[in-house]
Amino acid sequence: MIEGPVAILLAAGHGKRMKSEKAKVLHEICGRPMIRYVVDAVRGAGAKTIIVVVGYGADQVRSALADDPSILFATQTRQLGTGDAVKACRPFLEGYSGPALILVGDEPLVRPDSLKGLLDRCKSDQVTCLLGTAEVPDPTGFGRILRDSAGRFLKIVEERDCSPEERAIREVNPSCYVFELPGLWDALDKLDTGNSQGEYYLTDAPQLLQAMGRKVKALRVLEADDILGINTRHHLAQANAIMRSRIIEQLLQDGVTVVDPQNTYIDGRAVIGQDTVIYPFSVISGNVKIGQNCKIGPFSHLRDGTILGDGVEIGAFVEISRSTLGDLVLARHLAYLGDANVGAGANIGAAAVTANFNGLEKGLTEIGEGAFVGSGSVLVAPVSVGKQSIVGAGAVVTKHHDVADGQTVVGVPARPILIPVRPDESLIRVQ
Ligand code: UD1
Ligand code: CA
Repeated sequence: MIEGPVAILLAAGHGKRMKSEKAKVLHEICGRPMIRYVVDAVRGAGAKTIIVVVGYGADQVRSALADDPSILFATQTRQLGTGDAVKACRPFLEGYSGPALILVGDEPLVRPDSLKGLLDRCKSDQVTCLLGTAEVPDPTGFGRILRDSAGRFLKIVEERDCSPEERAIREVNPSCYVFELPGLWDALDKLDTGNSQGEYYLTDAPQLLQAMGRKVKALRVLEADDILGINTRHHLAQANAIMRSRIIEQLLQDGVTVVDPQNTYIDGRAVIGQDTVIYPFSVISGNVKIGQNCKIGPFSHLRDGTILGDGVEIGAFVEISRSTLGDLVLARHLAYLGDANVGAGANIGAAAVTANFNGLEKGLTEIGEGAFVGSGSVLVAPVSVGKQSIVGAGAVVTKHHDVADGQTVVGVPARPILIPVRPDESLIRVQ
C-alpha cells in the first residue's frame, strides 16, 4: 500500500555535458550528492513515498542512496524522455490515488517550503496538474510557459521547439509539478514523440490533461535561485556557492559566528551550538556536531562523525574524524584525531597524532579526562591513555600498551617514569 503524497525524482539521464563517468545526480554540492538535497526537499514538503527513476549509472545511484531504505527505485531501461521516465514508476503506483510531486534530480536548490505550497494549492484548488513556474532573467535551457491573453496556462514549449517570440518568454518550466494520480496516467498514455528530440516529453502532459477537460494551473511561485539546473560543472560550482551561503546564513541566524563566510565550508547537516566561532578556511564535512562556545579554526578540518562538547578549541591544521571530544578539550595546533574518544579537559599537544589505521583496519584510541598528550606524540591504536595521565613530547605509545590513570610515559616506545605528580596549575585551563 503506497502512502501519499508521493514524490517522483527523475534521475535516469546521463548528463553528458558534465563530462563524467559519474551519474549526474551524484555530483556533490557542499559534500553531498545533489540528489540528496532533492530527497530532503520532498521529504520536508511531506512526501511519504519517494521513487527515484534510475537509468544511466543506475547501480551508482542506488548504492549512493542505499542507506535510506525508504527510497524506492524504478528503472528506465532506455532514456526515451521525461514522460517515459515517469511511466517507469507506474507499477509501484497502480491503485494509488492522490498527489504526486514530480521533480528532476538535477535541480538541487529547490526548497521544501515551495514544494509544500504547491502540494497545498493542488489540493485546495482541486486541479489535476499544478505547475510551479519561475520568472528568470535568463531563460536559456528551460521550457517556456505559454499563457493566453487572460494569463491562463496554455502549454509548455521546449526551448528547441520554440519560435523566436516564444524563446523571448522569461517564465520557465523548472520541472516542479504536482499531478493527481491516476489522472496523470491518462495523459502519459497519449504522449507521442513528435518533437525535435523524438522523446516522450512530460511537458506535454499538462496541455493534454487540459484538452481532456481536467483542471491545470501554473503558478509563478518559485525563485530563480531555487531552480538552478545542473548541466555543466560551471552550474555545479554556482550551486555550491548558493548552497554554501544558505547553510552559513542559517548558522548566523542560529547564533554561530562565521568570521568569513566566503572562505568557510560547512556541510548542511552540521549542528553547531550558540556562540561558537568558526574562523576562516575551516572545512566541516559530513555529520558533525559542535557544542556551544567552541573555537574552530582557522584551517581546521572536522569530518564525518565528529562530536565536540562545549568550550572546545580546535586550531590550525587539526583534523578530526569519527571522534568524540568532551567539554573544554584543547587541540590547538597540527593534530590528527581519528576514531578517538577524548575525555573532558584533555589537552592534545601540537602535532600529536592518533595512528588509527594499520593498513587493514581502524583502531580506537581512548584518552581520559584531563590527560595531557604531549607535542609530537603518537598514540598507536588500539590504545588507551588514562585520566590525568601525561604522554611526554615525542613519545610513541604502542598499541595495547595502555597508559594508566595519572601515569607519565615518555620515549620511544613510551615507558612509564616516576616524576612528581604534576603541579595543580597544569590542570588549570591555559588561557
Ligand atoms: C526538462 C524539461 C524542461 C525544463 C527543464 C528544466 C522536458 C521534456 N523538458 O528539460 O521543460 O525546463 O527540464 O527543469 O521534460 N530524465 C530521465 N529519463 C529520460 C530523460 C530525462 O530520467 O529519459 C531525467 C534526467 O536525468 C534529468 C531530468 O529528467 O534529471 C531532466 O532531463 P533533461 O534531459 O535534463 O531535460 P531538460 O532538457 O533539461
Ligand atoms: Ca536539465
